[in-house]
Amino acid sequence: MVVRLEKVVPFGRSLDEYIQMFNLTEQDLQKSILGVADGPASFNAESTQLGYRIKSIDPLYQFTAHQIRERFDQVVDNIIEQVKNTPDDWVWTYHGSPDGLRENRKRAIELFCADYEAGKVENRYELGELPDLKYGDGEFDLGLCSHFLFLYSDHFSEQFHFDSVCEMLRVCQEVRIFPLLTLMLKPSQHLGPVIEKLQAQSYQCEIVTVPYELQRGGNEMLSITKSD
Ligand SMILES: C[S@@+](CC[C@H](N)C(=O)[O-])C[C@H]1O[C@@H](n2cnc3c(N)ncnc32)[C@H](O)[C@@H]1O
Repeated sequence: MVVRLEKVVPFGRSLDEYIQMFNLTEQDLQKSILGVADGPASFNAESTQLGYRIKSIDPLYQFTAHQIRERFDQVVDNIIEQVKNTPDDWVWTYHGSPDGLRENRKRAIELFCADYEAGKVENRYELGELPDLKYGDGEFDLGLCSHFLFLYSDHFSEQFHFDSVCEMLRVCQEVRIFPLLTLMLKPSQHLGPVIEKLQAQSYQCEIVTVPYELQRGGNEMLSITKSD
């Protein structure tokens, strides 16, 4: 896919946010993890520092750290302004305030950029995009997808979602996806149909309430595992 940087909002989340969004335990973090659509999250950078094994893939990784950071600086004020103008849409238990959110996003992209070149050399950041992954069957224990699938339900079809989840399940033993709301804060219209199709293929799907909530009502994660 040709990604135009001027269309991208490179906002990334931290390791602590990933832990909360996906209910990650120490045992989970010891697994081999594929972060799909990780973008400028600091999840990989921070996890690597702690000795965990994460590979991140994203179409954004065709750009340099400098380009990604420049784009962040161009859009951050406007996004935070939009957040301030829609106070009913957000829950501030985690970030405290829109300015706290800005600081946390700034910290995440700084950690990401500082790690990006080394991470590329170590193949921890690889260019890739759903619905096709270049990895082998069952290569990873756990696949995570934060703020891409279901969030952009108004931009990507049900078929794209189903194909993408199936592809993640091909390469990962378990898949977790967060959030399950769209950008309009509505439950994703694709969630029910995708779950039905997965269950028809004998996958176990569980919607789990998690401690993280920024979008109001967005505190649920989908966990999908292969039935024994
Ligand atoms: C809102 S960001 C989320 C970044 C990160 N997961 C986080 O939560 O901090 C969405 C990401 O999805 C990526 N993306 C867009 N199309 C994609 C695709 N087809 N496959 C995988 N990632 C894609 C974008 O480049 C962007 O980095």
